[in-house]
Amino acid sequence: MSFYPIHHTFAPHVNLSYTVRSLGILMAPWKWRRGHSLGLLEKSLTERFSADTFLFASGREALCALLRALQLKNGEEIIVQSYTCVAVPNAIHAAGGVPVYCDIERDTLNMTADSVNEVISHRTKAVICQHTFGIPSPTSELKELCDSKGIVLIEDCAHIMPDETGPEQVAKHGDFIFFSFGRDKAISGITGGAVLSKITDVTLRLRAERARSVNLNLLTVLRLLTYPLVYLIARPLYGLFVGKAFLFGLKKVGWMVPVLTKKEKEGQQSPIPKHMPNAFAYLTLTQLKKLKNINDHRRKLTDYYISEYSSSQMCISGTKSDLPLQKFPLFTKDADDIRAILKKKNIHLSDGWDGCVVCPAGIDLDPTNYTPGSDPEAEAACEKILNLPTHPTMNLKKANELTNMLNPMINDG
Ligand SMILES: Cc1ncc(COP(=O)(O)O)c(C=O)c1O
Repeated sequence: MSFYPIHHTFAPHVNLSYTVRSLGILMAPWKWRRGHSLGLLEKSLTERFSADTFLFASGREALCALLRALQLKNGEEIIVQSYTCVAVPNAIHAAGGVPVYCDIERDTLNMTADSVNEVISHRTKAVICQHTFGIPSPTSELKELCDSKGIVLIEDCAHIMPDETGPEQVAKHGDFIFFSFGRDKAISGITGGAVLSKITDVTLRLRAERARSVNLNLLTVLRLLTYPLVYLIARPLYGLFVGKAFLFGLKKVGWMVPVLTKKEKEGQQSPIPKHMPNAFAYLTLTQLKKLKNINDHRRKLTDYYISEYSSSQMCISGTKSDLPLQKFPLFTKDADDIRAILKKKNIHLSDGWDGCVVCPAGIDLDPTNYTPGSDPEAEAACEKILNLPTHPTMNLKKANELTNMLNPMINDG
């Protein structure tokens, strides 16, 4: 059994310097809510993507604020793809819209212009295209389709932030873009989100959305700021009883802030957004400055997995070696059993994106509006998917260890 875990979700961005920075800001509580990092982050994103930026406490709140700024009328529809995160339909509902699902294609895990076209109706107000795990969706075709129907294109960039080397088609064609700075996202400030607008009247209404935002409570900020330290301690001890017990204890006493609350798993989200605290803008900003390095690291691991698997049916053609994938999807028979075997070896490949068309598994599907059986491609994909890590605290040596262990077990089947 490997001593140090291979994982997706044990603070994938957190290393010693990230922890030191989070403890530094933790020691300066007067900078938690307001400070110059907010303005600097906003300015950097505005310059990088040539669109007006608004920061919120999470990606789901940024999306909800945008949809509210679009002034949805009763029953207006937003097209999303199946195989998405429950935070997306929740935000649509919170803004007064109705999520309508279009099919994904197996080779990209993304929507296509054809699958969107099939579900467009006179009630459609917007299309949200998701670059699943960093695989670009066909934005120029989608934009052309949206323009021809008089609706807007929103790019969900929760899983990818392009840098100067691309991918070119991401965050370029959409009328709006939103990012998440959550714990396992392309870059992470522990929590946070941004929405970017290229349409002036919506920009003005987004300003109003930001103005009516409320503060995240200070205890939650404190708890989130300790997250890097908790995982820096717990991660190397996770293979031993003490690491698990430490995390279990902190969860039991309610110290750990869940990524999704019980209410969110039941389909609820408040329509009132929260401000992004300056503390998380500070952490996001430092990551943004290192975006190219973070993406190149992901490209290196993506390239490694491609070299291992591209000749087999397990690899999908949307995964290209120059992409900074947030994780690397493989399709294999018995994916669940493989994850269970690996878990005993301190390799944790459950990431919440398996066994569900609206993820994570176990959420209440009824409020999401997804009709079981409506996208057989997505349902088949999520049964076979086995995601491999590409995050900053993963490395080539561990990727090699992982594939050596995996190779005798996986097959195209
Ligand atoms: C595809 C996608 N969109 C949006 C979100 C929402 O981001 P956040 O967790 O910052 O609210 C997530 C993650 O939760 C996601 O995976």
